[in-house]
Amino acid sequence: MKLLKLFILIVMIALTLFLIVPNLSWAGEDGAGLYKTKCAACHGVDGAGKPAAKIPSLVSSESKASSDADLSDAIANGGKGKKPSHAFANKGLSPDQTKMVIAYIRDLQKK
Ligand code: HEC
Repeated sequence: MKLLKLFILIVMIALTLFLIVPNLSWAGEDGAGLYKTKCAACHGVDGAGKPAAKIPSLVSSESKASSDADLSDAIANGGKGKKPSHAFANKGLSPDQTKMVIAYIRDLQKK
């Protein structure tokens, strides 16, 4: 009986870890989290940018009209000017993460 209880306990712990660990490793890995850690300092939490510092709004009508491909190019490669400082593909942002951030920007644009 003791062994059975121990076995059940171990299975419970394993299940709990299995459920918790993937969630932990994904914390901050969604579009909102990525945007807040990598983009909000410049483009603002609400995406409004900083006109005085020439940081464009991501919720402007121009930005709303931009295709996902254009936004993706601006984010991953620094846009038409290929600005190295804005080439987030070289700064640890994977193509999937770029898509997640764009999805989050589209959400901001609806607000
Ligand atoms: C260091 C400040 C800074 C950070 C951090 C930053 N940006 Fe930018 N972003 C700019 C500036 C400045 C521009 C204007 C284009 C240029 O000259 O590089 C720009 C341009 C853009 C554009 C093109 C908008 C347009 O109208 O041309 C998009 C989209 C964009 N950023 C998204 C992002 C996303 C998403 C992140 C986070 C992964 C991010 N930016 C992080 C400063 C920043």
